Amino acid sequence: MTNEERSNGSWSGQLGFLLAAAGSSIGLGNIWRFPYMTGMNGGGAFVLIYLLVVLLIGVPLMMAEIALGRAAGSNPVKAFSRMAPAKSSRTAALSGLILGGGILLLIFNNPAGAVILFLLAVLFATLGWKTVGLFCGIVPVILLSYYGVIGGWTLIYIFDSIRGANGFTTIEGAEKVMGPILHATEGRGPAVVAAQLIFMALCLGISISGVRKGVERWCKMLMPLLFLLMCVLIVRGLTLPGAEKGLRFFLQPDFSKLSTGTVIAAVGQALFTLSLGMGIMLTYGCYLDRSANIAKAAVGVIALDTFAAVMAGVAIFPAVFAMGFSESGGPDLTFKVLPAAFNLVPGGLGILWNVIFFLILMIAAVTSAVSLLEPPVSILEGECGMSRRNAVVLVTLVCSVLGIFCALSMADWNQLPGAGKLIKSIWYGTAPGSFFETLDGFCCNWILPLLGLVTALYTGWVWGSRYALMELREGGKGALDNNIWLIISGFDAEDGGMDRRYLFTPGILWGAALRWIVPILLLLAFFNCIGLIRF
Ligand code: PHE
Repeated sequence: MTNEERSNGSWSGQLGFLLAAAGSSIGLGNIWRFPYMTGMNGGGAFVLIYLLVVLLIGVPLMMAEIALGRAAGSNPVKAFSRMAPAKSSRTAALSGLILGGGILLLIFNNPAGAVILFLLAVLFATLGWKTVGLFCGIVPVILLSYYGVIGGWTLIYIFDSIRGANGFTTIEGAEKVMGPILHATEGRGPAVVAAQLIFMALCLGISISGVRKGVERWCKMLMPLLFLLMCVLIVRGLTLPGAEKGLRFFLQPDFSKLSTGTVIAAVGQALFTLSLGMGIMLTYGCYLDRSANIAKAAVGVIALDTFAAVMAGVAIFPAVFAMGFSESGGPDLTFKVLPAAFNLVPGGLGILWNVIFFLILMIAAVTSAVSLLEPPVSILEGECGMSRRNAVVLVTLVCSVLGIFCALSMADWNQLPGAGKLIKSIWYGTAPGSFFETLDGFCCNWILPLLGLVTALYTGWVWGSRYALMELREGGKGALDNNIWLIISGFDAEDGGMDRRYLFTPGILWGAALRWIVPILLLLAFFNCIGLIRF
């Protein structure tokens, strides 16, 4: 894609990019997942570990994805073949390695897993690095199909709250009302599907108008609204008597709960919430102007994302604890416990707090869902010559159909015993019961770390960190090449009068992180997830 082709396909500037990328990263991961993970994993202690992981993996990887996208100026498939030849002796060696992995799996009695690796080896041998780009086109479709179902739930909650159907004040009451929605049973199936389709239609409406006129314009309006609404809930929560108990639960460090498992959980959370390892930041990066400062943009997105996650916790826990739901962490927190707590808030405005909260959740979900459309759409545009309009319609359609399966018929693999067994054998028996959770586990535990790993390796070793650093320097001169101590003390390299070649600079640290730290940590996280090693 050349600059002219991009007309409506580029951000208006660094702010446009920042808000769109923040829109992508701030999602259910921040508002639903982060608060309960923090509550369950040692509060402030988890936040510290999480911040460390974000610094070691999140920042370098996000900079790499954006740089890769901007340097290639094109969709993920091209990005993974433009910076270095798609096929080389290295890719041939890698295919051999994957083939070897397949043979090992066959020996260790996992034929289904072996077949997958064999197919991957053939794909890699024929397409080379383009395979990675192809995955960036496919995985977001899978993720969006179940993300859309959750988006649909938020719509139902808002609608039900307004019509007064969500007046419950106990967990049992919540179970009765919410259970049928979450499981699409007791006649709520059609509503769940309809809501999911409406949610997908919203995404289509935003995305179809283009990157600048659609995605950016909506994110520019919705993201400030999201932060504003969150402030309202925070003030409400903190002014409740007993609120401090919630804050303590959320943020007080409990180092006894820390384990290697916590670190792994933090790695998964960081990748998911920052929308990394899926080519999204890569695609967003290709719409970014050369004058933009990538390092600054990446740090800005990550800061906004972390801020939103902490805000969500501060909005949620004080209300939950003040209303006496102390034991109730876990995934049910936002969909069952919180609405019940809001209904108990004195003043009888439960409906209002619930509507505000689920509006926040919906906004966060829509802007993230829209970003999931972008990699497949850009690939269809660039590789198949489709118009944006047709590409957006096609991708939304596929996600919607897959999503219906998620919401309904295959809610439980046990209904399809043969398929269930096959799926379990592929995932080493770690796959949970439902189709929905299988897709979730597949994306978050397998694909995100793997694609993140490959992106880091590709940028660090194949493209080469020195060339990638050159891309970062475009629009980003200054801090990257300064000695860290000089930056901290407020000097410039020239003031120090030292030879810059021997300086300890952020640019150098970034290269080292990309080549070594990120791959090693992601590999460990991946091996742990699939059960090859247990910490
Ligand atoms: N980052 C989003 C969230 O926190 C989810 C997401 C993951 C979106 C991957 C796009 C890609 O919910």
